[in-house]
Amino acid sequence: MSSETPHAYRSHRPAARLSGSITVPGDKSISHRALMFAGLAIGETRITGLLEGEDVLRTAAAMRALGATVRRDADGAWVVAGTGIGGLHSPDDVLDMGNSGTAARLLCGVLASHDIFAVMTGDASLRRRPMRRVIDPLAACGAVFAAREGGRLPLAVTGAADAQPLSYRLPVASAQVKSALLLAGLNARGITEVEEPEPTRDHSENMLRHFGAVLSVVPHGAGKLIRLQGQPELMAADITVPGDPSSAAFPIVAALLVPGSRITIAGVNLNPLRTGLFTTLLEMGADITITNKREAGGEPVGDLIVVASTLRGIDVPAARAPSMIDEYPILAVACALARGPSRLRGLGELRVKESDRLAATLAMLRVNGAHVEVEGDDMIIAGGANRLGGGTVLTQMDHRLAMSALVLGMAAEAPVTIDDARFIDTSFPGFMGLMQSLGAAIKAEAEAA
Ligand code: S3P
Repeated sequence: MSSETPHAYRSHRPAARLSGSITVPGDKSISHRALMFAGLAIGETRITGLLEGEDVLRTAAAMRALGATVRRDADGAWVVAGTGIGGLHSPDDVLDMGNSGTAARLLCGVLASHDIFAVMTGDASLRRRPMRRVIDPLAACGAVFAAREGGRLPLAVTGAADAQPLSYRLPVASAQVKSALLLAGLNARGITEVEEPEPTRDHSENMLRHFGAVLSVVPHGAGKLIRLQGQPELMAADITVPGDPSSAAFPIVAALLVPGSRITIAGVNLNPLRTGLFTTLLEMGADITITNKREAGGEPVGDLIVVASTLRGIDVPAARAPSMIDEYPILAVACALARGPSRLRGLGELRVKESDRLAATLAMLRVNGAHVEVEGDDMIIAGGANRLGGGTVLTQMDHRLAMSALVLGMAAEAPVTIDDARFIDTSFPGFMGLMQSLGAAIKAEAEAA
């Protein structure tokens, strides 16, 4: 990548250890859901700690275009006055969901059971991602979808005027698909049933209860059976969004890898369906202490104290993937610098994220000198490499890849460059400044050169 590239950034080993106390931005999954459920509730919901990243701002704009009143107060809280279930209207223009698969897929559920017409698109990354996993099951409620070849955006939806309740067994572990069906079920007459073969993040279920919906969740084989009573009266209920564990992952791994570091991250969401990375890092020998456990917005929350550690390679079972699905690129960085080999199993779903994350993570590590292979859906990382870095990572419109590569540069012998840092704002606005405040050495390539 040439040094003229305006959005390229480079990180290198800091002169000193990382230290300090930080908070990370609000949980992305919870932020999207808070705006959607509040937009369907009656009354005013006040949301504090909302993630003000590009992805979530797209959801806010879409809910506004559909008829909810969404404003940001001077104190940073977001206030949403909902339309009530069934009360949304057709938007005047195309809904642009930017880079956000969660926004697009969950919104398909909302639209499917409203008597409205809408067209949805997104950026080049989102337009490549499969939407059939939501539009096929949602069509059974009576909605009519027309999408590009392969079920890709842009798509048009004519929602069902009298939506039928859905009964569906998820073929893949996906909280987005589960949530889309539950959102559609809100405006269907009768009981919507969703069976998930493996448990995935349950923020939609928690939030449905928080807003007064009637739902039951029972264990079902290795997974769960969720039954939602349609057409409840959702009542506005304030929400405090906890810090995003998927964002905390980056400063955590940076502090573990930069010798002598010690940092504290306050107010991180510790929902057990999101903490697979923490479990894995602890198994690798990480010194992470959780203190001050409490509850915020119906989710368990705690402060994390992270101390630099010598990590060992690890074998991560496929069953853990749903609880850390977004954390594999940064875990792969930790594995590349750990002692001994690692095997990360069951990563097929990474192929349909913001980029093909399996291929992109492999490329990120290889271009920086690590020994990595993909075997089927598993990634095998040799670990213990003693001269990493020096490469330029193509981030492919993928925020998590960009942040993972910059963390690699903080711990590797040679600097790491990324071609484009702009997508970091989709989930972690302020990432550069926050990392620099801990002592990280990250600069725009033009300045670093
Ligand atoms: C999310 C679910 C996951 C995750 C995404 C957020 C959600 O996607 O990768 O970043 O908020 O429901 P899948 O449901 O496709 O696994």
